[in-house]
Amino acid sequence: MTRVGFIGWRGMVGSVLMQRMYQESDFKNLDPVFFSTSQVGQNGPNINGQNSTLLDAYSIKDLSQLDIILSCQGGAYTENVYPKLQETGWDGHWIDAASTLRMSDDALIALDPINRKSIDIAYEKGIKTWVGGNCTVSLMLLAIQGLIKENLIQWVSSMTYQAASGAGAQNMRELLIQMGELSNSVKSELVDSQSDILAVDKKILSTMHSPSFSQKNFTVPLAGNLIPWIDQDLGDGKSKEEWKGQVESNKILKDTYSSIKVDGLCVRIGAMRSHSQALTIKLNKTTSIEKVNELISSGNEWVKFISNSKQSSIENLSPAAVSGKLDIAIGRIRELDLEENTISAFTVGDQLLWGAAEPLRRILKILINKAQSL
Ligand code: HSE
Repeated sequence: MTRVGFIGWRGMVGSVLMQRMYQESDFKNLDPVFFSTSQVGQNGPNINGQNSTLLDAYSIKDLSQLDIILSCQGGAYTENVYPKLQETGWDGHWIDAASTLRMSDDALIALDPINRKSIDIAYEKGIKTWVGGNCTVSLMLLAIQGLIKENLIQWVSSMTYQAASGAGAQNMRELLIQMGELSNSVKSELVDSQSDILAVDKKILSTMHSPSFSQKNFTVPLAGNLIPWIDQDLGDGKSKEEWKGQVESNKILKDTYSSIKVDGLCVRIGAMRSHSQALTIKLNKTTSIEKVNELISSGNEWVKFISNSKQSSIENLSPAAVSGKLDIAIGRIRELDLEENTISAFTVGDQLLWGAAEPLRRILKILINKAQSL
């Protein structure tokens, strides 16, 4: 049985991964070992009727006994432990949710519905580091896979509406706390439906700007507001999140599909866990909208095509409609009155499922199947 070590399995992405693994009975085919950075020696989860004790996530000796390590612990852990483990000559597989190793030549970004071919090639070549992609990149590629398959895209501009979860669990809490503080500041006014809405708005703005407003994590208000910058400032006008769009997309597409140009602005909004993206797609040949709809709908089994009507869009194409599901909703597809062969689309996907945990769960399964078929 393949011995798989789990690190960071109690965090947000790790917990979603565990839920998905239970749902899919993935634990039947592996021998799990659970690690902790803070509660070594305490009880781990009971899997397959077996109790477990948490091992030290910094013990290179314990880690090096494993066939596969799956880390959802974050970039700092990867930076600390991965090089030490490599130095021991460990030849197991490392699967990581953090972005640290993503662009390394020795690592493959795993998104198997798109790049199963690259995964097989890399495995044969002896690649042993597998990293989940940036959430917006994975969600966008899955949404437009039908067009990518036909090599129909010249470029895509993705303007994102990213949920709080992408910034972390504490940020999700902070968003809700901010919402509560705003609402509480106008509680009495809200009881009276005739109260002056401009006075309410003024009070909300002054609450947002008050030094006591909770914003330790986001550093600025998100509730009732938005944040037009995600991740580091690269100094050339681009955010790191925007830079990832082009480089990660094409690293994923390499071997399987033609490259595409990707660029756009990334914006944080007050949604909880599903990322949305407004896409402008330049097609490289004239294609009817009916054909585009047909191709997008059949891109992969998770695409949920939403017809371009008001009712269907507001009901089905939103974070509230998609969160907690593996659906990759895509709609608002129409020809734009700009230049020819330019279309719009709007897509929404759960940042914690296809945006984070699901590609990791699936690459783990692929590696286990490969190991067990030897
Ligand atoms: N960088 C993403 C975000 C998170 O901030 O929303 C996951 O890739």
